[in-house]
Amino acid sequence: VTGITVAVVGLNFGRLWLPIYLAHPDVRTVVICDPDPAALSAVGDQYGIERRLTSLDEVLAADDVDAVHLLTPLDLHAPQSLSVLASGKHCAVAVTAALDMASLWDIVRAQRESGKNYMMMETGGYSRAALHIKRMVDEGRFGEITFGRGAHHQDVGGLSSLWTGIPPLWYSSHALAPLLTILGTSVSSVRALGSGRLPVEKRGRWGNAFPVETAIYDLVDSPVALEITRSTHQTVSGQGEWFSVYSDRHGFDWGRAWGEEGQLFHSRDAGDGTIRSEPFHPSDTTSELPEQLRERLGPQAVDALFEPGAHLVDEFVRSIVEGRPSGIDAVVAANWTAAGIAGHESALAGGAVVAIPDFGREA
Ligand SMILES: NC(=O)c1ccc[n+]([C@@H]2O[C@H](COP(=O)([O-])OP(=O)(O)OC[C@H]3O[C@@H](n4cnc5c(N)ncnc54)[C@H](O)[C@@H]3O)[C@@H](O)[C@H]2O)c1
Repeated sequence: VTGITVAVVGLNFGRLWLPIYLAHPDVRTVVICDPDPAALSAVGDQYGIERRLTSLDEVLAADDVDAVHLLTPLDLHAPQSLSVLASGKHCAVAVTAALDMASLWDIVRAQRESGKNYMMMETGGYSRAALHIKRMVDEGRFGEITFGRGAHHQDVGGLSSLWTGIPPLWYSSHALAPLLTILGTSVSSVRALGSGRLPVEKRGRWGNAFPVETAIYDLVDSPVALEITRSTHQTVSGQGEWFSVYSDRHGFDWGRAWGEEGQLFHSRDAGDGTIRSEPFHPSDTTSELPEQLRERLGPQAVDALFEPGAHLVDEFVRSIVEGRPSGIDAVVAANWTAAGIAGHESALAGGAVVAIPDFGREA
Protein backbone atom coordinates (compact mmCIF):
# COMPACT_ATOMS: atom_id res chain seq x y z
CA VAL A 1 0.00 0.00 0.00
CA THR A 2 1.43 3.38 -0.93
CA GLY A 3 0.47 6.95 -0.16
CA ILE A 4 0.29 9.03 2.99
CA THR A 5 -2.35 9.44 5.68
CA VAL A 6 -3.57 13.01 6.12
CA ALA A 7 -5.67 14.44 8.96
CA VAL A 8 -7.87 17.44 8.09
CA VAL A 9 -8.43 19.41 11.30
CA GLY A 10 -11.25 21.99 11.46
CA LEU A 11 -14.25 21.17 9.32
CA ASN A 12 -15.82 24.44 8.27
CA PHE A 13 -13.50 25.80 5.55
CA GLY A 14 -11.82 22.41 5.96
CA ARG A 15 -14.66 20.51 4.32
CA LEU A 16 -13.82 22.19 0.98
CA TRP A 17 -10.44 20.47 0.99
CA LEU A 18 -11.63 16.93 1.75
CA PRO A 19 -12.69 15.92 -1.76
CA ILE A 20 -9.29 17.01 -3.03
CA TYR A 21 -7.37 14.89 -0.50
CA LEU A 22 -9.73 11.97 -1.09
CA ALA A 23 -9.04 12.13 -4.84
CA HIS A 24 -5.27 12.57 -4.63
CA PRO A 25 -3.37 9.52 -5.91
CA ASP A 26 -0.65 9.85 -3.23
CA VAL A 27 -3.10 9.99 -0.31
CA ARG A 28 -3.99 6.61 1.15
CA THR A 29 -6.28 7.58 4.00
CA VAL A 30 -7.99 10.75 5.22
CA VAL A 31 -8.77 11.28 8.91
CA ILE A 32 -11.01 14.14 10.09
CA CYS A 33 -10.92 16.05 13.35
CA ASP A 34 -13.17 18.68 14.94
CA PRO A 35 -14.32 19.16 18.54
CA ASP A 36 -17.84 19.82 17.24
CA PRO A 37 -19.55 16.38 17.10
CA ALA A 38 -22.26 17.60 14.71
CA ALA A 39 -19.69 18.82 12.15
CA LEU A 40 -17.70 15.61 12.58
CA SER A 41 -20.61 13.29 11.85
CA ALA A 42 -22.15 15.42 9.08
CA VAL A 43 -18.85 15.69 7.21
CA GLY A 44 -17.81 12.10 7.97
CA ASP A 45 -21.10 10.74 6.63
CA GLN A 46 -21.07 12.98 3.56
CA TYR A 47 -17.61 11.79 2.48
CA GLY A 48 -17.70 8.28 3.93
CA ILE A 49 -14.76 8.93 6.27
CA GLU A 50 -14.50 6.42 9.13
CA ARG A 51 -11.69 7.87 11.23
CA ARG A 52 -13.21 10.76 13.22
CA LEU A 53 -11.29 12.36 16.08
CA THR A 54 -12.37 15.14 18.42
CA SER A 55 -9.03 16.65 19.40
CA LEU A 56 -5.70 17.51 17.83
CA ASP A 57 -3.98 15.55 20.63
CA GLU A 58 -5.66 12.36 19.40
CA VAL A 59 -4.48 13.12 15.86
CA LEU A 60 -0.91 13.68 17.07
CA ALA A 61 -0.99 10.44 19.07
CA ALA A 62 -2.02 8.42 16.00
CA ASP A 63 1.17 6.81 14.67
CA ASP A 64 -0.19 6.20 11.21
CA VAL A 65 -1.03 9.87 10.53
CA ASP A 66 1.78 11.31 8.40
CA ALA A 67 0.51 14.84 7.79
CA VAL A 68 -1.91 17.29 9.38
CA HIS A 69 -3.74 20.14 7.63
CA LEU A 70 -4.94 22.75 10.14
CA LEU A 71 -8.08 24.75 9.25
CA THR A 72 -8.84 25.91 12.76
CA PRO A 73 -9.51 29.43 14.09
CA LEU A 74 -6.80 31.98 13.37
CA ASP A 75 -5.30 32.28 16.84
CA LEU A 76 -4.67 28.51 17.05
CA HIS A 77 -2.61 28.23 13.85
CA ALA A 78 0.83 28.98 15.34
CA PRO A 79 0.61 26.92 18.56
CA GLN A 80 -1.03 23.99 16.75
CA SER A 81 1.57 24.07 13.93
CA LEU A 82 4.34 23.87 16.54
CA SER A 83 2.62 20.87 18.17
CA VAL A 84 2.25 19.12 14.82
CA LEU A 85 5.93 19.59 13.92
CA ALA A 86 7.01 18.57 17.44
CA SER A 87 5.03 15.34 17.09
CA GLY A 88 7.07 14.46 13.99
CA LYS A 89 4.30 15.00 11.45
CA HIS A 90 4.21 17.17 8.34
CA CYS A 91 2.13 20.33 8.72
CA ALA A 92 -0.06 22.33 6.34
CA VAL A 93 -1.88 25.33 7.74
CA ALA A 94 -4.50 27.79 6.52
CA VAL A 95 -3.40 31.44 6.47
CA THR A 96 -2.17 33.10 8.53
CA ALA A 97 0.89 31.25 9.82
CA ALA A 98 0.96 33.35 13.02
CA LEU A 99 -0.13 36.64 14.55
CA ASP A 100 3.26 37.69 15.98
CA MET A 101 6.92 37.73 14.89
CA ALA A 102 8.22 35.50 17.71
CA SER A 103 5.90 32.67 16.63
CA LEU A 104 7.19 32.94 13.05
CA TRP A 105 10.76 32.40 14.26
CA ASP A 106 9.52 29.46 16.38
CA ILE A 107 7.89 27.88 13.33
CA VAL A 108 10.98 28.32 11.13
CA ARG A 109 13.13 26.74 13.86
CA ALA A 110 10.64 23.93 14.57
CA GLN A 111 10.36 23.07 10.90
CA ARG A 112 14.15 22.88 10.52
CA GLU A 113 14.64 20.85 13.69
CA SER A 114 11.84 18.42 12.87
CA GLY A 115 13.00 17.78 9.31
CA LYS A 116 9.30 17.58 8.40
CA ASN A 117 7.49 19.57 5.72
CA TYR A 118 5.58 22.73 6.47
CA MET A 119 3.35 24.58 4.03
CA MET A 120 1.15 27.65 4.46
CA MET A 121 -1.87 27.03 2.24
CA GLU A 122 -2.03 30.54 0.75
CA THR A 123 -4.44 30.42 -2.18
CA GLY A 124 -3.46 33.76 -3.81
CA GLY A 125 -0.45 32.55 -5.78
CA TYR A 126 -2.36 29.60 -7.23
CA SER A 127 -5.26 31.39 -8.95
CA ARG A 128 -5.46 30.92 -12.71
CA ALA A 129 -4.60 34.59 -13.21
CA ALA A 130 -1.50 34.45 -10.98
CA LEU A 131 -0.27 31.20 -12.56
CA HIS A 132 -0.84 32.56 -16.07
CA ILE A 133 0.98 35.86 -15.46
CA LYS A 134 3.78 34.02 -13.64
CA ARG A 135 4.28 31.80 -16.66
CA MET A 136 4.43 34.86 -18.97
CA VAL A 137 7.03 36.43 -16.67
CA ASP A 138 9.10 33.24 -16.34
CA GLU A 139 9.16 32.81 -20.12
CA GLY A 140 10.33 36.41 -20.52
CA ARG A 141 7.18 37.45 -22.36
CA PHE A 142 6.02 40.03 -19.83
CA GLY A 143 9.24 42.04 -19.96
CA GLU A 144 10.67 43.94 -17.04
CA ILE A 145 8.22 44.49 -14.19
CA THR A 146 8.07 48.06 -12.88
CA PHE A 147 5.20 48.01 -10.34
CA GLY A 148 2.66 45.79 -8.62
CA ARG A 149 -0.44 46.45 -6.60
CA GLY A 150 -2.66 44.10 -4.60
CA ALA A 151 -5.84 44.50 -2.58
CA HIS A 152 -8.07 42.39 -0.39
CA HIS A 153 -11.42 43.82 0.61
CA GLN A 154 -13.45 41.59 2.90
CA ASP A 155 -15.98 42.82 5.40
CA VAL A 156 -15.30 40.45 8.30
CA GLY A 157 -18.38 41.61 10.22
CA GLY A 158 -20.19 38.29 9.67
CA LEU A 159 -17.34 36.14 10.99
CA SER A 160 -16.59 35.06 14.57
CA SER A 161 -15.68 37.70 17.19
CA LEU A 162 -12.02 36.76 16.67
CA TRP A 163 -12.14 38.85 13.50
CA THR A 164 -13.64 41.96 15.10
CA GLY A 165 -11.06 44.75 14.91
CA ILE A 166 -8.32 42.49 13.55
CA PRO A 167 -5.43 44.62 12.24
CA PRO A 168 -6.18 44.54 8.49
CA LEU A 169 -2.62 43.84 7.31
CA TRP A 170 -2.30 40.80 9.57
CA TYR A 171 -4.46 38.99 7.03
CA SER A 172 -3.12 40.44 3.79
CA SER A 173 -1.20 37.56 2.22
CA HIS A 174 -3.98 36.92 -0.31
CA ALA A 175 -3.11 40.30 -1.84
CA LEU A 176 0.67 40.01 -1.50
CA ALA A 177 1.29 36.37 -2.42
CA PRO A 178 0.42 36.58 -6.13
CA LEU A 179 2.84 39.47 -6.62
CA LEU A 180 5.72 37.88 -4.69
CA THR A 181 5.13 34.58 -6.47
CA ILE A 182 5.22 36.30 -9.87
CA LEU A 183 8.31 38.33 -9.00
CA GLY A 184 10.04 35.38 -7.32
CA THR A 185 11.24 37.44 -4.38
CA SER A 186 10.34 38.43 -0.82
CA VAL A 187 9.65 41.64 1.11
CA SER A 188 12.43 43.44 2.99
CA SER A 189 10.74 46.50 4.56
CA VAL A 190 7.44 48.32 4.75
CA ARG A 191 5.88 51.75 5.26
CA ALA A 192 2.15 51.70 6.02
CA LEU A 193 -0.67 53.94 7.11
CA GLY A 194 -3.92 53.13 8.85
CA SER A 195 -7.02 54.65 7.28
CA GLY A 196 -10.41 55.40 8.80
CA ARG A 197 -11.37 54.92 12.43
CA LEU A 198 -13.13 52.05 14.18
CA PRO A 199 -15.40 52.91 17.10
CA VAL A 200 -14.02 51.58 20.39
CA GLU A 201 -16.64 48.79 20.62
CA LYS A 202 -15.52 47.43 17.23
CA ARG A 203 -11.84 47.15 18.14
CA GLY A 204 -12.31 43.67 19.56
CA ARG A 205 -9.65 41.88 21.55
CA TRP A 206 -6.94 43.43 19.36
CA GLY A 207 -7.62 47.06 20.30
CA ASN A 208 -6.99 48.08 16.69
CA ALA A 209 -8.50 51.38 15.47
CA PHE A 210 -8.00 50.92 11.71
CA PRO A 211 -10.68 49.48 9.40
CA VAL A 212 -8.21 49.82 6.49
CA GLU A 213 -4.43 49.67 6.20
CA THR A 214 -2.39 50.47 3.12
CA ALA A 215 1.28 49.57 2.74
CA ILE A 216 4.23 50.03 0.40
CA TYR A 217 6.86 47.28 0.37
CA ASP A 218 10.51 47.21 -0.66
CA LEU A 219 11.65 43.90 -2.08
CA VAL A 220 14.81 41.82 -1.80
CA ASP A 221 17.05 42.16 -4.90
CA SER A 222 14.40 43.99 -6.92
CA PRO A 223 13.85 47.65 -7.87
CA VAL A 224 10.06 47.15 -7.76
CA ALA A 225 7.80 48.58 -5.05
CA LEU A 226 4.51 46.86 -4.16
CA GLU A 227 1.43 48.60 -2.84
CA ILE A 228 -1.00 46.52 -0.76
CA THR A 229 -4.36 47.61 0.62
CA ARG A 230 -6.49 45.57 3.01
CA SER A 231 -9.90 46.47 4.46
CA THR A 232 -11.86 44.55 7.08
CA HIS A 233 -14.62 46.92 8.26
CA GLN A 234 -16.59 50.00 7.18
CA THR A 235 -15.39 49.90 3.57
CA VAL A 236 -18.19 49.23 1.10
CA SER A 237 -16.65 48.02 -2.17
CA GLY A 238 -16.43 45.01 -4.43
CA GLN A 239 -15.45 42.18 -2.07
CA GLY A 240 -12.50 40.01 -2.97
CA GLU A 241 -8.82 39.85 -3.72
CA TRP A 242 -7.07 41.20 -6.80
CA PHE A 243 -3.73 42.29 -8.14
CA SER A 244 -2.26 44.40 -10.92
CA VAL A 245 1.20 44.13 -12.38
CA TYR A 246 2.86 46.37 -14.95
CA SER A 247 6.00 46.10 -17.08
CA ASP A 248 7.60 47.70 -20.11
CA ARG A 249 5.67 45.29 -22.36
CA HIS A 250 2.36 44.53 -20.65
CA GLY A 251 0.01 45.49 -17.89
CA PHE A 252 -2.49 43.29 -16.08
CA ASP A 253 -5.48 44.50 -14.06
CA TRP A 254 -7.72 41.97 -12.29
CA GLY A 255 -11.49 42.64 -12.36
CA ARG A 256 -12.81 44.63 -9.41
CA ALA A 257 -15.14 41.98 -8.01
CA TRP A 258 -15.18 38.17 -7.89
CA GLY A 259 -15.79 36.70 -11.31
CA GLU A 260 -15.21 39.97 -13.16
CA GLU A 261 -12.96 39.73 -16.18
CA GLY A 262 -9.43 41.18 -15.99
CA GLN A 263 -7.68 43.24 -18.67
CA LEU A 264 -4.34 42.62 -20.35
CA PHE A 265 -2.59 45.66 -21.84
CA HIS A 266 -0.04 45.63 -24.65
CA SER A 267 2.75 48.18 -25.06
CA ARG A 268 2.43 50.80 -27.80
CA ASP A 269 5.53 49.24 -29.36
CA ALA A 270 3.69 45.97 -29.90
CA GLY A 271 1.29 47.15 -32.60
CA ASP A 272 -0.17 50.31 -34.02
CA GLY A 273 1.45 52.82 -31.66
CA THR A 274 -1.35 52.83 -29.08
CA ILE A 275 -1.61 50.97 -25.78
CA ARG A 276 -4.18 48.25 -26.56
CA SER A 277 -6.20 46.32 -24.01
CA GLU A 278 -8.05 43.04 -24.28
CA PRO A 279 -10.10 40.91 -21.89
CA PHE A 280 -7.80 38.56 -19.99
CA HIS A 281 -8.55 34.86 -20.34
CA PRO A 282 -6.16 32.89 -18.13
CA SER A 283 -5.32 29.39 -19.28
CA ASP A 284 -6.73 26.28 -17.63
CA THR A 285 -4.04 25.19 -15.21
CA THR A 286 -5.71 21.95 -14.11
CA SER A 287 -3.65 20.16 -16.76
CA GLU A 288 -0.71 20.54 -14.35
CA LEU A 289 -2.45 18.42 -11.71
CA PRO A 290 -1.91 14.64 -11.57
CA GLU A 291 -4.15 12.93 -14.12
CA GLN A 292 -5.79 10.79 -11.47
CA LEU A 293 -6.77 13.85 -9.41
CA ARG A 294 -8.13 15.58 -12.50
CA GLU A 295 -10.03 12.50 -13.62
CA ARG A 296 -11.55 11.78 -10.24
CA LEU A 297 -12.65 15.35 -9.70
CA GLY A 298 -13.48 16.18 -13.31
CA PRO A 299 -12.57 19.58 -14.78
CA GLN A 300 -15.73 21.31 -13.60
CA ALA A 301 -15.53 19.79 -10.16
CA VAL A 302 -11.97 21.04 -9.79
CA ASP A 303 -13.15 24.53 -10.57
CA ALA A 304 -16.10 24.32 -8.21
CA LEU A 305 -13.98 22.70 -5.55
CA PHE A 306 -11.57 25.47 -5.36
CA GLU A 307 -8.94 25.15 -8.02
CA PRO A 308 -6.14 26.85 -6.04
CA GLY A 309 -6.89 24.32 -3.30
CA ALA A 310 -6.23 21.43 -5.69
CA HIS A 311 -2.84 22.93 -6.62
CA LEU A 312 -1.95 23.52 -2.95
CA VAL A 313 -2.89 20.00 -1.86
CA ASP A 314 -0.97 18.54 -4.78
CA GLU A 315 2.11 20.60 -3.90
CA PHE A 316 1.92 19.72 -0.18
CA VAL A 317 1.42 16.00 -0.77
CA ARG A 318 3.97 15.68 -3.56
CA SER A 319 6.60 17.63 -1.61
CA ILE A 320 6.25 15.01 1.15
CA VAL A 321 6.31 12.05 -1.20
CA GLU A 322 9.28 13.48 -3.12
CA GLY A 323 11.14 14.45 0.08
CA ARG A 324 11.70 18.12 -0.84
CA PRO A 325 10.63 21.44 0.72
CA SER A 326 7.10 22.58 -0.12
CA GLY A 327 6.36 25.55 -2.39
CA ILE A 328 5.42 27.75 0.60
CA ASP A 329 7.74 26.42 3.29
CA ALA A 330 8.30 27.95 6.73
CA VAL A 331 10.78 30.61 5.55
CA VAL A 332 8.48 31.80 2.74
CA ALA A 333 5.38 31.66 4.95
CA ALA A 334 7.20 33.65 7.63
CA ASN A 335 8.16 36.37 5.13
CA TRP A 336 4.62 36.71 3.75
CA THR A 337 3.11 36.74 7.23
CA ALA A 338 5.74 39.07 8.72
CA ALA A 339 4.93 41.50 5.90
CA GLY A 340 1.52 42.07 7.47
CA ILE A 341 2.70 42.10 11.09
CA ALA A 342 5.45 44.63 10.28
CA GLY A 343 2.97 46.61 8.16
CA HIS A 344 0.61 47.03 11.09
CA GLU A 345 3.57 48.03 13.28
CA SER A 346 4.46 50.71 10.73
CA ALA A 347 0.86 51.97 10.60
CA LEU A 348 0.87 52.30 14.40
CA ALA A 349 4.08 54.34 14.09
CA GLY A 350 2.55 56.69 11.52
CA GLY A 351 4.31 55.20 8.51
CA ALA A 352 7.82 54.64 9.90
CA VAL A 353 9.98 52.21 7.93
CA VAL A 354 9.88 48.76 9.55
CA ALA A 355 12.38 46.10 8.46
CA ILE A 356 11.17 42.57 7.81
CA PRO A 357 13.53 39.90 9.21
CA ASP A 358 15.41 37.50 6.97
CA PHE A 359 13.99 34.21 8.19
CA GLY A 360 16.38 32.25 5.98
CA ARG A 361 19.31 33.03 8.24
CA GLU A 362 19.89 30.80 11.26
CA ALA A 363 17.12 31.31 13.81
N1 LIG B 1 -8.80 31.57 1.02
C1 LIG B 1 -8.33 31.12 2.17
O1 LIG B 1 -7.17 30.78 2.25
C2 LIG B 1 -9.20 31.04 3.38
C3 LIG B 1 -10.60 31.15 3.28
C4 LIG B 1 -11.38 30.96 4.43
C5 LIG B 1 -10.77 30.69 5.64
N2 LIG B 1 -9.41 30.62 5.72
C6 LIG B 1 -8.75 30.30 7.01
O2 LIG B 1 -9.13 29.02 7.43
C7 LIG B 1 -9.30 28.98 8.84
C8 LIG B 1 -10.61 28.31 9.18
O3 LIG B 1 -11.65 29.13 8.67
P1 LIG B 1 -13.17 28.85 9.01
O4 LIG B 1 -13.95 29.88 8.30
O5 LIG B 1 -13.46 27.41 8.75
O6 LIG B 1 -13.17 29.11 10.59
P2 LIG B 1 -14.33 28.70 11.63
O7 LIG B 1 -13.99 29.38 12.90
O8 LIG B 1 -15.65 28.94 11.00
O9 LIG B 1 -14.18 27.12 11.78
C9 LIG B 1 -13.11 26.54 12.45
C10 LIG B 1 -13.39 25.06 12.66
O10 LIG B 1 -12.35 24.56 13.51
C11 LIG B 1 -12.94 23.84 14.59
N3 LIG B 1 -12.08 23.97 15.77
C12 LIG B 1 -12.11 24.93 16.74
N4 LIG B 1 -11.16 24.69 17.65
C13 LIG B 1 -10.51 23.56 17.26
C14 LIG B 1 -9.44 22.79 17.81
N5 LIG B 1 -8.83 23.17 18.93
N6 LIG B 1 -9.03 21.70 17.16
C15 LIG B 1 -9.64 21.30 16.02
N7 LIG B 1 -10.66 21.98 15.45
C16 LIG B 1 -11.09 23.10 16.06
C17 LIG B 1 -14.31 24.48 14.80
O11 LIG B 1 -15.19 23.58 15.45
C18 LIG B 1 -14.72 24.78 13.37
O12 LIG B 1 -15.35 23.68 12.75
C19 LIG B 1 -9.28 30.40 9.34
O13 LIG B 1 -8.21 30.61 10.19
C20 LIG B 1 -9.13 31.26 8.12
O14 LIG B 1 -8.08 32.16 8.31
C21 LIG B 1 -8.63 30.77 4.61
